[in-house]
Amino acid sequence: MITTSFEIREITTKDEYARLNDVLWTANFHPYLPVFTACHSVTGHTPEDRSKDRALDTDIQWAAHVKNPASHLIYALDKATGRVAGGCEWWIFHENPFPNGPHSIPCTWYPEGSERAELASQFLSQAFFPRQCWLQRSHAGVNRMGVHPDYRRCGVGRLLMQWGHERIDEWGYESFIEASPMARWLYEACGYRRVMGLHIDLEKKDPGDEWERLTYECRPPGVLLLWRPPMGVWDEKVPTGPWAVTEETWK
Ligand SMILES: CC(C)(COP(=O)(O)OP(=O)(O)OC[C@H]1O[C@@H](n2cnc3c(N)ncnc32)[C@H](O)[C@@H]1OP(=O)(O)O)[C@@H](O)C(=O)NCCC(=O)NCCS
Repeated sequence: MITTSFEIREITTKDEYARLNDVLWTANFHPYLPVFTACHSVTGHTPEDRSKDRALDTDIQWAAHVKNPASHLIYALDKATGRVAGGCEWWIFHENPFPNGPHSIPCTWYPEGSERAELASQFLSQAFFPRQCWLQRSHAGVNRMGVHPDYRRCGVGRLLMQWGHERIDEWGYESFIEASPMARWLYEACGYRRVMGLHIDLEKKDPGDEWERLTYECRPPGVLLLWRPPMGVWDEKVPTGPWAVTEETWK
C-alpha cells in the first residue's frame, strides 16, 4: 500500500496527456474491461499493438478534447516520485450540449464501412443515448476514469472526483456517469446513486467474422448509469430519475 500525497493538475499540453493516457490504458486492461475495447482503437494485444494503438488513441482523444470546451482532463501526480497515478476527463456543460436531441456517434478510428467501426459506433451511440435524452441542460459528467493498479485504494479516484465536485457545486450542476461495474463503488462513495444498468444490444442479423469476434471480446458490455443531484444532496426534492427533472425541481 502506497502512502503518499498527490497533486491534482489540469492538463494543458498533449505531452502531458500522452503520459496520462499510458496510465489509462494500463488501468483499463487490469482487469480487462470489455467496454474499453468496444470503444477504443484496439487492433491487437501484443506490446507492439498496444503501443501503436495507444499513440493513435492519444491523437484522437487529444483532438476531441481541444475541440470540446466542456472537456477538462485532469490527473493525479505522485508528489514523491513524479509518477502519474491516474486521471479522468470531466465534462462541464454550461449549456444544453444536445440542442438537436439524441444523435448517433460515429467511429472515426476504424475504416468506414468495417464491422469494427459499426460496432464501436453502435456501442457509443447506445451508451450515451440516455444522457442525450435526459440531460438536455447544463450538467457535468466523468469520462475516461482510470487509476494505475499500483495506486488503487489510495484515494486517487476520490481526489479526481473531488476536483470536479468543487467546481460543479458552485454552479449547482447535476452529474451523470456511464460507468464500468468496477468503478461503481468509487462513484457511490462520492455521492452518486445507480439509475439503472444498461444492456448494450450488439445483435446483428447475419454477422461477419469480425462482428462475432468483437462481440465475444466485448461481452458483457455492462454499463451502469449513475447520477448525483446538485451538491450531492439526496433530499425529498430529488425526482425518481434525471428524466423527471423539471425547471421547478431545484428552485
Ligand atoms: C475504479 C477506479 C478508478 C477506482 O480508483 P481508486 O483510486 O482505487 O479509488 P479510491 O481509492 O479513491 O476509492 C475511494 C472509495 O471508492 C470505493 N472503491 C474504490 N475501488 C473499489 C473497489 N475495487 N472495490 C470496492 N470499493 C472500491 C471505496 O469505498 C473507496 O474507499 P476506501 O478505500 O476508503 O474503502 C480504479 O479501480 C480503476 O482504475 N479501475 C479500472 C478502470 C475503470 O474501471 N475505470 C472506470 C471507467 S467508468
